[in-house]
Amino acid sequence: MHWSVWPCLSAFLLRGVVAANERVIQDPDTKLSFFSTYQPYKLENNKGITFRFAVPDAASSTGFDTVVQMVIPNEVGWAGLGWGGGMAQNPLLVVFRNSNNQGVLASSRWANGHVTPNTYTGATYTVYKAGTKINSTHWQVTAKCTGCTSWTSSGKKTVINPKGNNRFGWAYSLKKPTNPNSATSAIPIHDLGQYFEIDVGKGVNKDFTTLVGKLQ
Ligand code: HEM
Repeated sequence: MHWSVWPCLSAFLLRGVVAANERVIQDPDTKLSFFSTYQPYKLENNKGITFRFAVPDAASSTGFDTVVQMVIPNEVGWAGLGWGGGMAQNPLLVVFRNSNNQGVLASSRWANGHVTPNTYTGATYTVYKAGTKINSTHWQVTAKCTGCTSWTSSGKKTVINPKGNNRFGWAYSLKKPTNPNSATSAIPIHDLGQYFEIDVGKGVNKDFTTLVGKLQ
């Protein structure tokens, strides 16, 4: 009896943790305002990944640049974000530390199904030194994406809603990519593929272009 209740209860607890951890943060490193969500992957030891989004005030329904920030436990080899809510047919971001764990790479990918994603040239990421760092427990990456909020697949154009909820997919693996010094490296399959919903419009920045222009 107890065992059949546990999966529902743990899903409920995980959702509670997620809702409690959605908030606006003012990032001291980039001076950007982000809307942040924490996605747990293990209840024990409080292991999870934080995803943060900063968007321009004039974010348009035809597509807009974003800055994404992720805070990731050191045990994680790669972490990923699916901009259109899943794995297939949407821009994918894959991030990982290099071989000496002193730098972070962002790789733009695309998959047409549940198969190893290929490099995707429709989106480009700029990783900034500001907001990208590694300490004894976590690594953090901050990157601008151009091309992540609109894409075309099978002739259909999709644009992320700049003000309102969107579903994102996310994934992580405890294993690193085969060659972590290359953004085009082969990557091993994830330990978990999951979803969250977030209103990226809550990460609005009136002076987005000026602030991002100052980042290196
Ligand atoms: C590296 C090779 C990859 C393979 C072989 C692969 C394979 C799969 C498979 C078989 C599933 C369905 C079963 C399951 O949930 O495990 C799945 C789901 C998922 N994958 Fe991947 N995956 C890969 C990489 C990625 C990457 C890089 C991302 C994100 C950046 C990603 C995001 C997801 C998400 C969000 C789901 C659940 C939602 C959905 O089905 O679309 N995957 N993947």
